[in-house]
Amino acid sequence: MWSGFPLFPERASTIAGRVDALYYFLVAVSTGMSLLIAGLIIFFAIKYRRRSANEVGAPITGSLGLEVLWSLIPFGIMMIMFVWGVRLYFTIYHAPADALEVQVIGKQWMWKFQHLDGRREINQLHVPVGRAVQLTMTSQDVIHSFFIPAFRVKLDVLPGRYTTLGFQATTPGQYHLFCAEYCGTQHSGMIGQIIVMEPTQYQAWLSGSGSAQGSLASLGQTLFQDLACQTCHRSDTQGRGPQLEGLFGKTVHLQNGQTVLADENYLRESILDPQAKIVAGFQPIMPTFQGLVSEEQVLQLIAYIKSLGTQQAQATGGSSPPEGPRDAAPSGRAPGT
Ligand code: CUA
Repeated sequence: MWSGFPLFPERASTIAGRVDALYYFLVAVSTGMSLLIAGLIIFFAIKYRRRSANEVGAPITGSLGLEVLWSLIPFGIMMIMFVWGVRLYFTIYHAPADALEVQVIGKQWMWKFQHLDGRREINQLHVPVGRAVQLTMTSQDVIHSFFIPAFRVKLDVLPGRYTTLGFQATTPGQYHLFCAEYCGTQHSGMIGQIIVMEPTQYQAWLSGSGSAQGSLASLGQTLFQDLACQTCHRSDTQGRGPQLEGLFGKTVHLQNGQTVLADENYLRESILDPQAKIVAGFQPIMPTFQGLVSEEQVLQLIAYIKSLGTQQAQATGGSSPPEGPRDAAPSGRAPGT
């Protein structure tokens, strides 16, 4: 009934309606309480007004029942808001395991996207309709915020850390992408388009023009060899560094007795700040690769390490023909681009 309401952007994702429903609930509760309080102020001001110059107010002793009631009712309403909001939050920020993965890098002032099969885009993101998509996002410089109003999703994009955002588009079309965090002079120009396509169109787009650059995992593998990572991270147990096969998603035991989950953020930190977490049984001898690899390349290395642990998933998921970049960058290897 609200879909034609002109103040709201269109709804084009599975959670858009749910976000709106919560919003309407918040507006309704706020409006209801405001009217109730304002109405009672006016009503009591008239009913209990002073009628003669010598009139003295009746002493008030309080009412336990009333006090409990006006504490419990707002508490209940707040808890409804809290649980409702938390459930939505977890739906949005924890995509299902079979979600289509896309890597997002924000920089002043553009959005860069890498698809797992190696296809790259700038300020445009193509996704299929009806399929869960998970974005792994980071920033190359300052804090940005990734906002698609029609999908009702928004999340900060932070330097030095990965944040993840999920959505499932319901209607093919083109939707606005905004940066929602002031990030410098051309912040307002840091905009883009989300292009939602029918699955067959999307497949056609994926296998469209582009040089034979290979998947992100294979780009990562090439980089892994170029940087000579394999001299220490050998596939047998004789290496000076930990084995990377099957590492992703595992719990890692550290030198200091703590454990850490081997997720994207851990891998990223281990590449850029290797001394931060030393794996039990190994020496802190790895040099940092800070400044030697770009954000894109860190993500490619992570995609490669992930592929070492999930060979089968890769074999079924990465069956598309080789893809190339859509952007003008001549090479994926130039650090600092
Ligand atoms: Cu990026 Cu504002």
